[in-house]
Amino acid sequence: SAAEKGGYDYFMLKEIAEQPRAVADTLLGRIDANGRLTLDEIRLSDDELREIDKIIIVACGTAYHAGLVAKYAIEHWTRIPCEVELASEFRYRDPILDRDTLVIAISQSGETMDTLMAVRHAREQRSRVLAICNVNGSTIPRESDAVLYTHAGPEVGVAATKTFLTQLVACYLVGLYLAQVRGTMFGDEIRAIIAQLADMPDKVEKVLDTIEPVRELARSLADAKAVLFLGRHVGYPVALEGALKLKELAYMHAEAFAAGELKHGPIALIEQDLPVVVVVPPRRGRSVLHDKILSNIQEIRARGAKTIVITEEGDETVAPYADTLIYVPAAPTLLQPLVATVPLQVFACELALARGHDVDRPRNLAKSVTVE
Ligand code: G6P
Repeated sequence: SAAEKGGYDYFMLKEIAEQPRAVADTLLGRIDANGRLTLDEIRLSDDELREIDKIIIVACGTAYHAGLVAKYAIEHWTRIPCEVELASEFRYRDPILDRDTLVIAISQSGETMDTLMAVRHAREQRSRVLAICNVNGSTIPRESDAVLYTHAGPEVGVAATKTFLTQLVACYLVGLYLAQVRGTMFGDEIRAIIAQLADMPDKVEKVLDTIEPVRELARSLADAKAVLFLGRHVGYPVALEGALKLKELAYMHAEAFAAGELKHGPIALIEQDLPVVVVVPPRRGRSVLHDKILSNIQEIRARGAKTIVITEEGDETVAPYADTLIYVPAAPTLLQPLVATVPLQVFACELALARGHDVDRPRNLAKSVTVE
């Protein structure tokens, strides 16, 4: 009913709007008065957490994209090697697992069969399994050693939105907690990142407050045949998520590429007026990547692409090469996915609506897939 949708026409629109709250709620109670993390629910003792020598993240769909972002953050902060694998591929390759492997299973529903089977396989090999889930008491958390719940609230729209952002938050918390316990970062450094994380709900809100031009852009592209997405570093999984949303909702051909791969093949796809969405990394920190992606944008534009560029506020360098510029609030590189994903969700949603589709119930898809 309209009341359930809180005045929105679709649950998806409501759930996109709820994201600042979902991010804040997932942080709530997990940061103490001294700015340190308290993740008692992880249940593994500090000694056990210190023994971990490898992390493998397993997930499907949007949750897999959260895992891809997590790899960058976890390896950077903890120096523990971290792999990310599609749950459906994981056990069939006979992965190398033992007691010192931490397997992190990310699943909104906690019921995805592919992910559940990966969890069972990992536990049979005596690995420790930490679930990141949104549904209390669901199967995956029940079968895992520990669970860190995301507090996004119920998500009804089939395409994951607010649960993706909260999965990112949960992954950041796990990474920072491991760094805190294992001492791979200075306490001040960790506290600074936690403070930046605490600022993210306001930044997500700001993206939503200034989203109207993205809607107009989406409507203007309703007849496009395909859209490409480019990113690098954590912007690459953001690009993958943008493309997935467009496939799921608008039934359009959408592909994401790591921008560095462009020259190894995908650039052949560029033709006149093809919309290409580019996620630009922040200039501070990873400035090398910023410059490289800038030349990618120039290359595709020279070949006629319609460039849609997502970059942080204050970055004027891309303006000359962007047909459409979408500014998001500045954030540290590793946290940028929390703001950069939001315009892509809105873009896909609005484009699907312009094409006359029901964004809450896309064809052929289920909210949770309980068969392998
Ligand atoms: C289905 C949904 C996707 C979701 C995936 C994983 O395919 O349509 O939106 O990302 O399952 O779901 P999970 O509940 O495990 O996160």
